[in-house]
Amino acid sequence: MASVTAADEKRVLDAAPHQLWIGGEWRDASNGATLGIEDPSTEETLCTIADGTPDDAVAALDAACDVQDEWAQTPPRDRGEILRRTFELMNERADDLALLMTLEMGKPIAESKSEIVYASEFIRWFSEQAVRIDGRYSVNPNGSGRLLTMKQPIGPCLLITPWNFPTAMGTRKIGPAVAAGCTMVVKPAQQTPLSMLALAAIMKEAGLPDGVLNVITSSKASSVTEPLMDDPRLRKMSFTGSTPIGKMLMEQASKRLIKCSMELGGNAPFLVFDDADLDAAVEQGVIAKMRNIGESCVAANRFHVHESVADEFAARLTEKLAAMKVARGTEDGSQVGPLIDGKQRDKVAELVDDAVGKGAKVMTGGERVGDKGYFYAPTVLSDISPDAELLREEIFGPVAPVATFSTEDEAIAAANSTEFGLVAYVFTRDIKRAFRVTEALDVGMLGLNRGLVSNAAAPFGGIKESGFGKEGGPEGIEEYLSTKYVAVDL
Ligand code: SIN
Repeated sequence: MASVTAADEKRVLDAAPHQLWIGGEWRDASNGATLGIEDPSTEETLCTIADGTPDDAVAALDAACDVQDEWAQTPPRDRGEILRRTFELMNERADDLALLMTLEMGKPIAESKSEIVYASEFIRWFSEQAVRIDGRYSVNPNGSGRLLTMKQPIGPCLLITPWNFPTAMGTRKIGPAVAAGCTMVVKPAQQTPLSMLALAAIMKEAGLPDGVLNVITSSKASSVTEPLMDDPRLRKMSFTGSTPIGKMLMEQASKRLIKCSMELGGNAPFLVFDDADLDAAVEQGVIAKMRNIGESCVAANRFHVHESVADEFAARLTEKLAAMKVARGTEDGSQVGPLIDGKQRDKVAELVDDAVGKGAKVMTGGERVGDKGYFYAPTVLSDISPDAELLREEIFGPVAPVATFSTEDEAIAAANSTEFGLVAYVFTRDIKRAFRVTEALDVGMLGLNRGLVSNAAAPFGGIKESGFGKEGGPEGIEEYLSTKYVAVDL
């Protein structure tokens, strides 16, 4: 993409929908309220959008319920074709979608572009899965009859998406829901709703019938999600976000036993053994840490490096991070945009200050950048004290603490000493150690000599307090299907 101009920014902002999407209509909030969307790199308001009310949320669920039966009867091939067309449109419009995302979320344009590709891959993957929903036929073990299973759409869903990947975290829920024959209400994050509204417009253009997808934007998330969680028509809730909010939603879901998928927080350890290919470990470590400005639940949260290579690893990681360009995401060559808001930047700064107060050495960074916008410098810390908060807390920012270990058992114990269990990264050239450590780590995903695991064709998801349920891969659609067993007497 050529350099972004102010005219480009105005054009994509003007073209983006700013209203609620309910039953195939763009609507203002029922009380006329609006909510401002901030550019995190300038702290200025980009635009205002509808601030949905509880009544609007119920109207969205009404619209979803009205068309649930008809949508469930739509031939799977037709559902797949709509997704396929969505995939194509997303890629045709990738430049504008990426710019819109950068404006509201802050990440560099190149990263927004990658996210649009990643997001569209979920749509393509599930366009292919729509026609692969099957069941079983078997003979009763006692020979007296037949056992059949069939899979049916679970029903209307509530999909709650985060601000860090405004489009991809939506498509990996919307794709399988559409493919399975479910209707839905999507509640995007308050900070980044424009990308989701733009996606809704594209899906309409791709032929998605009115009412299948509804989008409610709001400044008070729980005011619009709570009435839906308490509505007997809602059959499924999928959430990506923090563990505390996930626990609160689980409590609400327990009242009506709503089926949940939970993609929650992480605290990914990145283990580098003494036999690792250090070039690969550094290169992949930069990806694992700096993708999305570190604002990812799969970001490497802490590096545990064997004591014999730790100094070299830390020095090389420092060289890479110190060279990264920190700038507004629309600027040519920007590699590190602002954090999402002041609260997030302050949290990152506090975690760094805590570590430094407990003896950590700042190899690079360790400070805010600029007077405007929520920028924080790429940071490497060494000499980490075991009681530093950032070894336990999800940093969600561009900060790499490098701790050391001396034995394999010590590395495994350090990696597992967290309530989270989303992902881990392991760097070793010893195949036996690779499998030993892989089996010993309590995580739902593992990157073996790789710093990136995310892939639409693979089951994304964690264990422990990182949540449950899988998104992507053949498993992803199962979250939106219920299995009916039929006992047949012949
Ligand atoms: C997340 O941060 O929530 C997901 C990141 C990914 O899908 O790679």
